[in-house]
Amino acid sequence: MSHPNPLRVALFGAGRIGKVHAKNIADNSNVELAWICDPFVDGAQALVEQYGGRSTASTDEVFGDSSVGAIIIGSPTNTHIDLISRAQSQGLAVLCEKPIDLDIDRVREYQKQMAAAAAVPFMLGFNRRFDPSYGSIHARFVAGEIGELEQLNITSRDPAPAPPSYIATSGGIFRDMTIHDLDLARFFIPDIVEVTAVGSNLFSDYIAEAGDYDTATVLLRSRRGQIVTIVNSRRCVFGFDQRMEAFGSEGMLAATNVTPTKVLSYTKDVTAAAEPYLPFFLERYAESYKVELDAFVQAVQTGAACKPDFDDGMDALVLANAALESARSGKTVNVADDTK
Ligand SMILES: NC(=O)c1ccc[n+]([C@@H]2O[C@H](COP(=O)([O-])OP(=O)(O)OC[C@H]3O[C@@H](n4cnc5c(N)ncnc54)[C@H](O)[C@@H]3O)[C@@H](O)[C@H]2O)c1
Repeated sequence: MSHPNPLRVALFGAGRIGKVHAKNIADNSNVELAWICDPFVDGAQALVEQYGGRSTASTDEVFGDSSVGAIIIGSPTNTHIDLISRAQSQGLAVLCEKPIDLDIDRVREYQKQMAAAAAVPFMLGFNRRFDPSYGSIHARFVAGEIGELEQLNITSRDPAPAPPSYIATSGGIFRDMTIHDLDLARFFIPDIVEVTAVGSNLFSDYIAEAGDYDTATVLLRSRRGQIVTIVNSRRCVFGFDQRMEAFGSEGMLAATNVTPTKVLSYTKDVTAAAEPYLPFFLERYAESYKVELDAFVQAVQTGAACKPDFDDGMDALVLANAALESARSGKTVNVADDTK
């Protein structure tokens, strides 16, 4: 299937992440917003008025438009596989938000069907791979700057817990939140064989009542013994805490938190005090969503492979499930035979 430039795209979901994609599509001259589809059609229409395209509550109307070349899925997780399936059966390229689904059996089942079907471009929205700082650490590590990678330390703390309604359907901290860090770990070290996790309930009663954790640490070990540490919390009083260190035989590459400016304040009470960190993912990772969209469109238009792909999404979910199993059992989980 040939893909014209601009590529005509339909967006599913006009919620938090849908708004990000709608704006980035409008700002990218290689894509054109054809449709925004959301059962809450007023939300879709409000975005159409800002960014163009047409709004609809009807999935059939979108899939009936033969001018559409790709879809972007920003609807709730439990809608992803049905939309992927429908798009791929029509040969449409897909950029799908994480996670693919919460049920690994369903993901595996679909992957078998997908393998049998003709290859259609598919990218999973693990946007942190496209963050300029994390992407630069990765590129410089691949270029050999820090020698052999031995340890990877990732910190990811949300500013405040999501509301109870979100927690109830999130799939838990490992599949909802840690999954970004698990993919980032796999970006650097794909062959993870062991997962050990601990989870605690330290501050949120409703997260505990939902059978979930508010605080967690995950250790991953690769086939040759490299170690990844992921530190997560659903609360952080000083803001959205996003940091990474890649430590190797020849040095270390590190990215610290981002502030709106680089200005530091020195007074009689404090030294080197900076502004608050960027508040949450919409601000901290704004650039990554743009780069992600650009990478997707370029891959579709040039026929290059999409990365991260469906298997990356599946393997990150396997690691998230293993982390949950480990946190509950107190045992290390071997995943050597469960990942690609
Ligand atoms: N990559 C990231 O950083 C990131 C950030 C946030 C959310 N997400 C993912 O994006 C997805 C959506 O999350 P959100 O926070 O934007 O949710 P949200 O609740 O803010 O928005 C979801 C929207 O989808 C609509 N919707 C429901 N069913 C639909 C369907 N069948 N077709 C089209 N639209 C439908 C809802 O009416 C709502 O407007 C989730 O899978 C989530 O995990 C990813």
